[in-house]
Amino acid sequence: MQNDKVQIFDTTLRDGEQVPGCKLDTTQKLIIAERLDFLGVDVIEAGFPVSSPGDFASVHEISKIVKNATVCGLTRAVKKDIEVAAEALKYAVKPRIHTGIGTSDSHIKYKFNSSQSEVIRRGKEAVSYAKNFVDDVEFYAEDAGRTENAFLAKVCEEMIQSGATVLNIPDTTGYCLPEEYGAKIKYLKENVKGIENVILSCHCHNDLGLATANSIAGVINGARQIECTINGIGERAGNTALEEVVMILKQHPYLNLQTDINTKLLYDTSMMVRESMGMPVQPNKAIVGANAFAHSSGIHQDGVIKNRETYEIMNPLDVGVTESAIVLTARSGRAALAYRSKNIGYELTKIQLDSAYQLFLKVADTQKEVIDEDLHRLMKEVNKISKIIIS
Ligand code: KIV
Ligand code: ZN
Repeated sequence: MQNDKVQIFDTTLRDGEQVPGCKLDTTQKLIIAERLDFLGVDVIEAGFPVSSPGDFASVHEISKIVKNATVCGLTRAVKKDIEVAAEALKYAVKPRIHTGIGTSDSHIKYKFNSSQSEVIRRGKEAVSYAKNFVDDVEFYAEDAGRTENAFLAKVCEEMIQSGATVLNIPDTTGYCLPEEYGAKIKYLKENVKGIENVILSCHCHNDLGLATANSIAGVINGARQIECTINGIGERAGNTALEEVVMILKQHPYLNLQTDINTKLLYDTSMMVRESMGMPVQPNKAIVGANAFAHSSGIHQDGVIKNRETYEIMNPLDVGVTESAIVLTARSGRAALAYRSKNIGYELTKIQLDSAYQLFLKVADTQKEVIDEDLHRLMKEVNKISKIIIS
């Protein structure tokens, strides 16, 4: 594998679907899985097969239709879970079992009432057992973000010896700072025997709004897989947003890290997921929010009309948004009014623009946004005073 390639592991259908109210049926999951494959993700985590007959059926059916991506099923470090996942994945061209166990003191003490050595024993047993069914076994050290580095390194080394191909280092509770998470990955790269033979994976939650920053810190420090979801949906405050990490790597080429994602499909995929899950996206969401490429203040609009790059660090076309929006509000200036008027066919002279702008401000002060319909009415008024050229 190229050293500069970052694998995109999409967990929209597993961690994303755990969100209350986002449940999908098998048909909806199949449509999304097909789209994720087309988008170019490397791994699709299709579900947690032992959790319900519906989830089993979804993983089973998705395994049959996915052509390029690896299809992955989640399990606990429990033999029955692994057997069920293997069965659900049996038609996958590239199957992966994702098994694991909590490794932080808090999980060991309160969840399992167990010990570090017992957790390692159970992890090893799960990885070796999964290897009987598939070659590709990913191990997650749940709550790795709050697991002491020396113990985490020992866990990783033992899992490599048992045959794990990917080691997932989840910041399950979204607690880490980017420096801390990056340093954790670096520590593992430098202290785990055999680490060069496996892929380290970032799985970050967004409880403090740091999921994307942590994942990027992870790959800068040597991880080569990011686990993420479309629109950043997922447990509590969500997971790392796929569209964000992909565009960060694309817009910062000096990092020398690439993905295989066809970025032009990002916006459409985001729409597909929000509609089928009934989960709206906040307007100011990076990359795919309604306002991500909308400009409303006069100073910004004037700049963007002269040259898009004055206020945009990426081309909307690159993420599948057809154009930047110049939104007319009471904060807009003459340049924006002339631009939007021209878009709907009115060529204004300087004098006409001055009178149109005074009328525009009166309307804009009474409503949140001035739309094309308002502009047509406004142009009729201006036309009464001075004939406008209509193209
Ligand atoms: O957040 C987490 O730790 C997880 C694991 C099950 C991979 O989702
Ligand atoms: Zn998670």
